[in-house]
Amino acid sequence: MSACTSAEPHGGARLRIAVLASGRGSNFAALVEACRDGRLPIDIVELICDRSSAPVVGVADAAGIAHVVLDPQDYHDRAEFDRALFARLDALDVTLVVLAGFMRILPARALEAWHGRMINIHPSLLPRHPGLHTHRRALDAGDREHGASVHYVSAEVDQGALIAQVMIGVERHDTPASLAARLLGHEHALLVASVNLIARGRLCWSAHGPLLDGERLCGPLRLCSDGHLLPVAACP
Ligand code: GRF
Repeated sequence: MSACTSAEPHGGARLRIAVLASGRGSNFAALVEACRDGRLPIDIVELICDRSSAPVVGVADAAGIAHVVLDPQDYHDRAEFDRALFARLDALDVTLVVLAGFMRILPARALEAWHGRMINIHPSLLPRHPGLHTHRRALDAGDREHGASVHYVSAEVDQGALIAQVMIGVERHDTPASLAARLLGHEHALLVASVNLIARGRLCWSAHGPLLDGERLCGPLRLCSDGHLLPVAACP
């Protein structure tokens, strides 16, 4: 089974995506910009945010993109919130959901239906440093390289199949803030390039792992300085 969907860059169907985000929204803004300037053959159907005060809501508003706030406080419990969230996603009829700084753990049961159609961007070189405070943890661990990963979402937080990574060097005087700031632009490029491969039908999820141009991916693609994603690992 595979989930390969292509969008024709020249006049054909564009990939319908929804974005889930909780905060600043710079990754969301990068997708919007790439969509606007024609680099990404996608339609961002809706932004779903779980915090009404999150700056990402203003980003969507300014860009004229439909957005909705589903505030967990408006729901009886977590299960009711999750039901509302996934009902919303179902209603949107999107092919891909992008988690761009969405700070909630999603329920395994609901994720089953979205396997291979939901991706996340995480600010570390997974499997190193899943979870929070990744920049501080990379420094504490003495890592010489840091980076960001895009991966398919699975029930285990930050552990789904890796799609692509970008690496940066850790410098001697780095702080968590300086590392985060230096990484951010690379994160944006990584997310846009990953979504682009999916939108153009070149990257698919399969039960055997991600496929690039029909070939099994044996390790995450690496973002090159020219913005392209290239395989670096040879298959055994
Ligand atoms: C990014 O670092 C992303 O990798 C992580 O959350 C942060 C969101 O930043 N998942 P922004 O809201 O996209 O600016």
